[in-house]
Amino acid sequence: MENNKLQRDSFGSKFGIIAAAAGSAIGLGNIWKFPYITGVYGGSAFIIVYLLCIAGIGLPIMLSEFLIGRRAQANAVGAFKKQAPGTPWFLTGTLGLAAAVIILSFYGVVAGWTLDYVFRAITNQFANMAPAQLGDMFGGFITSPVRPIVWQVVFMLLTLGVVLGGVKDGIEKYSKILMPFLLGIIVILNIRALTLPGASEGISFLFKPDFSKLSAAAVLSALGHAFFSLSLGMGTMITYGSYISKKENLGKTALQVTIADTVIALLAGLAIFPAVFAFGIEPSAGPGLVFITLPNVFNQMPGGYIFSILFFVLLAVAALTSSVSILEVVVAYFAEEKGVSRKAAAIWSTVAITILGAFESLTNGTVNFKLPFLKSGEILSLGFFDWMIELSDMMLPLGGLFIALFVGYKMLRKDVEDEVTNSGAFKVGYVSAFLFAVKVIAPILIAIVFFNNLFGFLK
Ligand code: TRP
Repeated sequence: MENNKLQRDSFGSKFGIIAAAAGSAIGLGNIWKFPYITGVYGGSAFIIVYLLCIAGIGLPIMLSEFLIGRRAQANAVGAFKKQAPGTPWFLTGTLGLAAAVIILSFYGVVAGWTLDYVFRAITNQFANMAPAQLGDMFGGFITSPVRPIVWQVVFMLLTLGVVLGGVKDGIEKYSKILMPFLLGIIVILNIRALTLPGASEGISFLFKPDFSKLSAAAVLSALGHAFFSLSLGMGTMITYGSYISKKENLGKTALQVTIADTVIALLAGLAIFPAVFAFGIEPSAGPGLVFITLPNVFNQMPGGYIFSILFFVLLAVAALTSSVSILEVVVAYFAEEKGVSRKAAAIWSTVAITILGAFESLTNGTVNFKLPFLKSGEILSLGFFDWMIELSDMMLPLGGLFIALFVGYKMLRKDVEDEVTNSGAFKVGYVSAFLFAVKVIAPILIAIVFFNNLFGFLK
């Protein structure tokens, strides 16, 4: 069935759709990045802005992607070619494809770190380490030449294995197992964190807004992260939308996935900050928050050995169901647009993306590679790796802008209505509000963020 274009593979059940799409959305973005940027930008005021971005921009764009994909029954590039033949709209998909390659390249590296930390947790390596030693361990590890790449390769092979299984028997099947598992782990971690003496300070850090800490940078970062966390702007949800049955209610699905992603991000915060405060540690540790701060927290916590293993397994699982969704964008493109077999497409894209990622990993320490016309990265201040992360921060809102404009101005209102009501099978009351969001709100806000990022990006 590999090359069979007559019958496209698709998701088999409602739960399977939610598991796969929420599996894509819930990832390192929720458990690694959301807590640390929340810490850096001062907590709850940032969260409120983030929630506004999710509701006002993220949700409408997710619905846009689903409906573009399902209507066309095609991959991210093909979807635009089918619905706007002979126009440059397909470049939105091409941009997404490039973003997929870039994101997966560094995502595989960070996911590899999480596998290494699963191994370190199991072999009890954090015990008896002082905070400074934990920092040195992390710094030494990510800047070393071989070890991070070995784990990156392992992780990319896992990703490849799932995608080779196909949409229903690979992506959907594993998501249905892994997502409930993930939820179970995060609930256990929450119970542990919230029952620590002194946990309440962490809770008020998350939920008592202090707007004086809110900067323009925080607002921009909230919008950028809304895209990343919901897997938007790159055609992931177009591709997944194309696997959703014509019987499903797309608006409802988008809402459920958005809520699941947001709840897990908040639960990750609730697992981390109460523990961080309970042990009197600084919340604003940045990218090292989960790799340095948390092992330190686990060291001091009763049962820390078990909870450290659970936490890093959680990170790795979350990363895997996301990375498969990124690889699938590339694979679906090559299989449908270029007539390559799914198997060859999956293997060769994995090889190419892994090589790019391995090079990025080397630029964290071994190789000094900086692009002359760009500011050096601010995330890890490390060069090319960092730069890739920032580049994706720009590409996603740009992709999201074109997706919003496509649904708002290129598609006919009648066709949009047709898709969100399953050709009139039921009524929905939100079409005008939705179109207002994609025609006006999203484009304006995204444009502001995009230009701001661009000027911050060039020297
Ligand atoms: N959303 C995932 C996370 O939070 C990452 C991800 C998967 C992604 N697919 C994507 C990000 C597509 C942007 C676009 O970790």
